[in-house]
Amino acid sequence: MTRILIVDDDEGLIHFLSRFFSKQGYDVAACTDASSGLDILAEEQFDLILLDYKMPGLSGLDTLKEIRRLQVRTPVIVMTAYGTTETAIKAMKLGAYDYLLKPFDRAELKRIVADALEVNRLMKEVVSFPCELIKVSPAESKGIVKIIGNHRKMQEVYKLIGQIAGKDVTVLITGESGTGKELAAGAIYHHSHRRDKPFLTVNCAAIPDTLFESELFGYERGAFTGAEHTHIGKFERCDKGTIFFDEIGDMSLSTQAKVLRVLQEGELERLGGTETIKVDVRTIAATNKNLEKAVEEGKFREDLYWRLKIISIQLPPLKERVEDIPALLDYFVGRFSEEYHKSIRYVADGAIQKLKSHTWPGNVRELKNCIKRAVLLSSGDVILDEHIKLEAESHGPLETVNREQLTSKLKDKLDDLVPYILQVSNQKAHANIIELVEELLISGALEQCGNNQVKAAKMLGISRNTLRHRIKKYNL
Ligand SMILES: Nc1ncnc2c1ncn2[C@@H]1O[C@H](COP(=O)(O)OP(=O)(O)OP(=O)(O)O)[C@@H](O)[C@H]1O
Ligand SMILES: [Mg+2]
Repeated sequence: MTRILIVDDDEGLIHFLSRFFSKQGYDVAACTDASSGLDILAEEQFDLILLDYKMPGLSGLDTLKEIRRLQVRTPVIVMTAYGTTETAIKAMKLGAYDYLLKPFDRAELKRIVADALEVNRLMKEVVSFPCELIKVSPAESKGIVKIIGNHRKMQEVYKLIGQIAGKDVTVLITGESGTGKELAAGAIYHHSHRRDKPFLTVNCAAIPDTLFESELFGYERGAFTGAEHTHIGKFERCDKGTIFFDEIGDMSLSTQAKVLRVLQEGELERLGGTETIKVDVRTIAATNKNLEKAVEEGKFREDLYWRLKIISIQLPPLKERVEDIPALLDYFVGRFSEEYHKSIRYVADGAIQKLKSHTWPGNVRELKNCIKRAVLLSSGDVILDEHIKLEAESHGPLETVNREQLTSKLKDKLDDLVPYILQVSNQKAHANIIELVEELLISGALEQCGNNQVKAAKMLGISRNTLRHRIKKYNL
């Protein structure tokens, strides 16, 4: 269970926060002064700490320093009274994950906490890989995610990770969807000397430009309407840490220019700010797009491309390493048997053959989902051929898209986007997200059908009238 510690001398606030988080299913502990907080932290592990900055006794800064010493990987959110942004900035520099200004907004509270818990998960999840070349410490079994596969191409990947993880170079990870790019990024981080510093993932897909830049670079108070206080961006928050740009191929050209400057000079300015801020961040980027082609088409900066490409790691598609399927099968069967309290002991030969002859357009993610389903469908302790459900292949490109794979991808993406949508939606989150999805779907269908409305309407399963209506609404 996720554990949160609240340290605040305001008992009313503790009461409110405890209820708020307990209702969401978190396990909450609280205390009203810094020294008992530190006593608890010396004994117990938490996933998140909420710390009041101004309490009698130890100063907020000293408490924070001590907390970081005791539990360096646990994110700390500092709570300060309105109008004390300066202290908040100092706290961020000392390694606080974020800050909340009192009195706080529930939506803001929820968003920041969810964000911090995700970072906590990523930082604590140790990624290891089977390679004799690199010494992997025998970590405790919980929270370990393994990269499975001994194919020559995977050995190359491990070797490269081992060679570059400890150096401070920028790394570009390429490969089809579901081949394990995020996993590889995690492995680099965990084998680097920055592993005790933050790891932040930034998904570059489909986030509006201005919002994206303000998240990344931060902004000064008054930089734009609604900027009521100074906001520290992800780069600054990640100082001394590692930033992972997922789907970097989708980053806009203007953001690319600013990111390049950070990579080259280690400098940035907050939006609306004049002060140049120094940051020391290691960058890892991933994409499933062909960046070279994007450069040719003018959609990706050539200088940034070359900078990223210095060290690139290419993850092979699963169909090029079918020999690894039995090992992956073993691993996932083990994981899901445990998760769903099953005791699968045997996988029928026919089932293994079926898995080996599939082409896996969704790569390891698709295989993982397929095995998960098989584990759930199996009765007793055997997985048979009939439990392996593969989507029909070779019926044209659309049908080869596995529904399960699509759902999990969409969910991944929406999980990233939802906090932003909630942040900017002004109580219209539901309508905003539904409209966003609808618009993308309709423009996609029109594109595939060469703008033929009859065909597009049929593909979407809506009437032509409805389609016309939507085209007008979204100005397509
Ligand atoms: N070699 C591997 N061993 C074990 N699990 C793997 C491996 N490769 C991928 N996975 C699992 O498959 C899923 C997809 O992997 P990941 O998210 O890293 O892919 P990705 O390349 O980032 O995909 P996308 O481009 O769609 O974002 C994850 O659950 C991951 O843990
Ligand atoms: Mg990914």
